[in-house]
Amino acid sequence: MKPLTFTNNKGDFKLSQAENISSLYFPLASEVGLKSAVTPNLGGDSKINQETFLLEPVSVDNLHNNRSTRNFWVRDDKGNVYSATGASAKQEALRFSDQEENSVEAGFMWHTIERQSADLPLKSTITSFVPQDENVEVMLVTLENLSDADQTLTAYGAIPIFGRSADNIRDHRNVTSMLHRIKTTDEGVLVCPTMSFDERGHQLNHQIYYVLGFDDKEKTPETFYPTVEMFIGEGGTFTHPAAVYKETSGVASDSHIDGREAMGAFKFEPFTLAAGQSKTFILLMGINENQEHIQAVAQKYKNLTTVEKTLQETKDYWQEKVGVDFKTGDSDFDGYMKWVCFQPFLRRLFGCSFLPHHDYGRGGRGWRDLWQDCLSLLLMEPKTVGDMIVNNYKGVRLDGTNATIIGEGDGNFLADRNGITRVWMDHALWPLMTTKLYIDQTGDIDILTKEVSYFKDPHVKRGTEIDQDWNDAYGNEQRTADDAVYTGSILEHLLIQHLTGFYEVGEHNIYRLRGADWNDALDMADENGESVAFTAAYSGNLMELASLVRLLESETNTESIEILEEIGLLLKKDSDIYDNIERKHQILDAYTNQCLHNVKGRKIRISLSELALNLIQKAAWLRQHLQQQEWLDFNDQEGCYNSYYDNSSKPTEGFYNDRMHMMLTGQVFPIMNYVATDEQIRKITASADHYLYRPEIGGYRLNTDFKEIKTDLGRMFGFAYGEKENGAVFSHMTVMYANALYRRGFAKEGWKALKTLSDTALKFETSRIYPGIPEYFRADGRGVYHYLTGAASWYMLTMVTEAFGVHGKAGDFVLYPKLLAEQFDENGRASITTQFADKTFQIHYDNPNQKDFGKYIIKKATCDSQEIDITDDAFAFITKADLANLSDEVHEIVITLD
Ligand code: G1P
Repeated sequence: MKPLTFTNNKGDFKLSQAENISSLYFPLASEVGLKSAVTPNLGGDSKINQETFLLEPVSVDNLHNNRSTRNFWVRDDKGNVYSATGASAKQEALRFSDQEENSVEAGFMWHTIERQSADLPLKSTITSFVPQDENVEVMLVTLENLSDADQTLTAYGAIPIFGRSADNIRDHRNVTSMLHRIKTTDEGVLVCPTMSFDERGHQLNHQIYYVLGFDDKEKTPETFYPTVEMFIGEGGTFTHPAAVYKETSGVASDSHIDGREAMGAFKFEPFTLAAGQSKTFILLMGINENQEHIQAVAQKYKNLTTVEKTLQETKDYWQEKVGVDFKTGDSDFDGYMKWVCFQPFLRRLFGCSFLPHHDYGRGGRGWRDLWQDCLSLLLMEPKTVGDMIVNNYKGVRLDGTNATIIGEGDGNFLADRNGITRVWMDHALWPLMTTKLYIDQTGDIDILTKEVSYFKDPHVKRGTEIDQDWNDAYGNEQRTADDAVYTGSILEHLLIQHLTGFYEVGEHNIYRLRGADWNDALDMADENGESVAFTAAYSGNLMELASLVRLLESETNTESIEILEEIGLLLKKDSDIYDNIERKHQILDAYTNQCLHNVKGRKIRISLSELALNLIQKAAWLRQHLQQQEWLDFNDQEGCYNSYYDNSSKPTEGFYNDRMHMMLTGQVFPIMNYVATDEQIRKITASADHYLYRPEIGGYRLNTDFKEIKTDLGRMFGFAYGEKENGAVFSHMTVMYANALYRRGFAKEGWKALKTLSDTALKFETSRIYPGIPEYFRADGRGVYHYLTGAASWYMLTMVTEAFGVHGKAGDFVLYPKLLAEQFDENGRASITTQFADKTFQIHYDNPNQKDFGKYIIKKATCDSQEIDITDDAFAFITKADLANLSDEVHEIVITLD
């Protein structure tokens, strides 16, 4: 039997002896701020943000190192002791010999550990969850007497409270414990530090960190151990605490202790369990500024029925959020997809900083992640994403770069005062990709004419100069000469982003790499580096932008729009300048000089058809330039695009020291954006299979081993080969490779890339992760940096819009399946449930003759038994107008392939 199995079709799963796998962790979170990670022994941490950690912050190596886990202890009247989380010194010592039976069972935002004691005839289960609307982590503990005799037991809850900023994990760790003001109440332990410690300016603190306990009769604890010292005792440890083993005394409720490391520990009154009988306890741990609110939380959740009801509501809430459901011939894959579709929500809640592998950053997400996470949310909750998109454009600067520090809430960007003027050259790309998907899914082309402000801080001229006149009083919105906030349409924002990049080229007339592109670790080629990969991406974007401009023209009957006068400089028609690098730099310089501080704010009117033509010319020139200059033929069968030029102006791809150097990124974007011809795609896939494909560790690696620490390209070459950006199977790029192949009709090749990722993730023996897609697979196939990865959004997007072919086209609903025979079940059916235009559709593809994509045509298509239109034997579709007439019920579409 597989070690990890799905228990139903909701993605719930079970893993026996989960504690034997180091570095497993599971996310739990509310929608209002609390974020927890739990391990099979209930290690991990819990926090609201960088400054507000309830439990001590952990990196992945702390998971086996720290003993300060959540714990629940039981002692019988003969002095036998049992930790229901398995976190006692004795249980740990027995792990390699007489290990206790234990397991983890989990689903979206809930996690249960079950364990049978070796010393006591007891079984325990602990379910942890965080209600979606409250910053409290609930631990529901049940003890069951497995013997046929009575047992008299004493139970202890034990949660170490860190209660401060993650910055104090080493810096002033001891000093900050002196700020703690600890008190016991009838229900538990409350800690309210006097200040949050920050030598740049200490702040008074109002956050209260708390741990409360109740039994199933709402009875509160009888004794408290509110400090670590009191609980573990002199010479004791968290896995062998004196309070439990030596029954040392604690304090009563309403005690006050100042200036010590705090402990949410308490003992309940002894109880007797008859044979087969069980008893349940509730522990609540959370953070709130208001003691009355904590009282209200206690009142609500001390009641077992309420807790059980809330647990069910939490499960239902998240199941409903993930409105997408796949049914293929492989139920494990369908279960895996549940988690892939859930992951974008996790990234929205956790950002990129708050799970044990993600020990960098101080919370929040980057610009690129912000936009890409919208992709999958667009398929699941399009309504909210529209506003998000509009607001996010407020982060664009007039020079085409953007804010990189993102504040709380949508559209709130912060000035970079650290003077780190890093410009990522790919950043301008993602907003258009997301906006295009939005327009396709909703038909809302008018979004392009919405007016929003621009971002302003001291960085000007694409991060090369500082505007000395800018100060805090100016604020973060670009102003005009008469001091008004300048606004422009979203189309104008897009034009500025795409046109400025066009002129910022290096010596090969390829877009400069600047601080890096998608690959954050290509960060050492600022002067001469060029990104061929993303130049290809921009060529495609210019084409897309042109087609959106045309759509705007035709759908809204508009002939022209107003844009900022200065942009005229970037729209020169003279295509001779495309080859002239120096001239390009002059034009960019002239433009960015005009928006150093304030802009004049005058607008000019420009015809939409001329604009579209202008963009197409640029895109076509780029495409041709790339095809002529960057393609490398290895032999008759193989070849690839060059991906980059390094700081020594050398191309990355080709033969160096008798080794072939190849990178996946440089292939993905030429394929995706029609730079690569079909013939070239065949050669690329053959080369990728030859040089990059390792199915046993997830499939397509990011690059071959350059065997060189290339200080003229980036830190990635300092990483061991096979780790992170240096040649790991980096899921995000592999998925984008698949997406690109699907777009070009290479479904078999695309599916191969996706399937190898899912097979490896689901092969627990190698991947050692719970279901879902990790950021990458290491050289030994272990999945790392689990859950918080942009790969999930792209995986889901590719499965829905490409493999199942369910997508929008300017608001019309199109079904264009690219499924392979193996993706259908034994009855020849593959199904997906998804939303479109605020309606839910159950879509079934019937393929009775089990044909592959390319061999079948759409023979018949119905929606609720009514025939729907088919074009070219390949697409079934429902127009925007017809969609509007459909009721809010679930609709069934059946498509017969033959
Ligand atoms: C991470 C970052 C992403 C970056 C990528 C490659 O990927 O979040 O912005 O492009 O590394 O450096 P992710 O965790 O989304 O897979």
